[in-house]
Amino acid sequence: MKELNRWFVTNRRDLPWRHSPRDPWAVLVSEVMLQQTPVVRVQPAWEAWLARWPDATSLANDQPGEAVIMWDRLGYPRRALRLHSAAVRIRDEFGGRVPDDYDTLLSLPGIGDYTASAILAFAYRRTIPVLDTNVRRVLARSRHGLAYPRGSAVTRTERQELAEILPTSGEQAATTSEAFMELGALICTSQNPVCTQCPLATNCHWYNSGQPANQQPPNRQARFAGSDREVRGRIMQLIRSTPAGVTQAELDLTWPDPAQLSRAQASLVADGLLVETADKRYTLPTS
Ligand code: ADE
Repeated sequence: MKELNRWFVTNRRDLPWRHSPRDPWAVLVSEVMLQQTPVVRVQPAWEAWLARWPDATSLANDQPGEAVIMWDRLGYPRRALRLHSAAVRIRDEFGGRVPDDYDTLLSLPGIGDYTASAILAFAYRRTIPVLDTNVRRVLARSRHGLAYPRGSAVTRTERQELAEILPTSGEQAATTSEAFMELGALICTSQNPVCTQCPLATNCHWYNSGQPANQQPPNRQARFAGSDREVRGRIMQLIRSTPAGVTQAELDLTWPDPAQLSRAQASLVADGLLVETADKRYTLPTS
């Protein structure tokens, strides 16, 4: 791991959520935002979010619809609602402090294995494997000669393997995990890896066996243009800019295909992102 850590010292991006001391709430927000949105779009949104809600309690005391407005164009806005629900639980059950054990974190809305592990590693400096798609790909290539890991779910074997590589000190383990993530994001990328600049190339099974393909790149996001996601985005854009609520007629103007619009609208209502009022208007959720 010496080569990786040396590479990381000179190549790491200066991302604000990596500055110490790391506040667990700030780390939690960053990891939820980064689940499905690229770093460049997350950074300004994360800064604005924390300037407004510097802790879980301040978010919990505000309306869920406000979280959806602040989420703006990060995409997959259910994450904003889940973050708000998590903040309410943190305020009500944990005195406003982000929990520091795995099972409790996992019980919070919007927090899965990856995010729980990332909070424990990066905020609480625990030695715990953090396996996102980047880290999984780096391990699959360097240690197993596979272009991509098998399957979309993290396996116990992967967890064990990473646990064995990580330094025992929580501080060093966090740095190593971040170095793996960074290598996956900048060098060992899904489509165009820059193996000639990789600190692990000398011992990389995949590189040394001629970069064989084993399967299609996993988990590519589906096409956006014309999709139901785009229609949902149009509706959310309108509703965010008109928090007092809109009529069905106003919603109908957001998309030309009525069947697709109606499907997208129903899915937003089912997700709790769009609320129908007694007088047949549509608004953001209030608590
Ligand atoms: N540092 C800590 N977590 C990160 C993430 N999810 N993406 C990029 N850098 C990170």
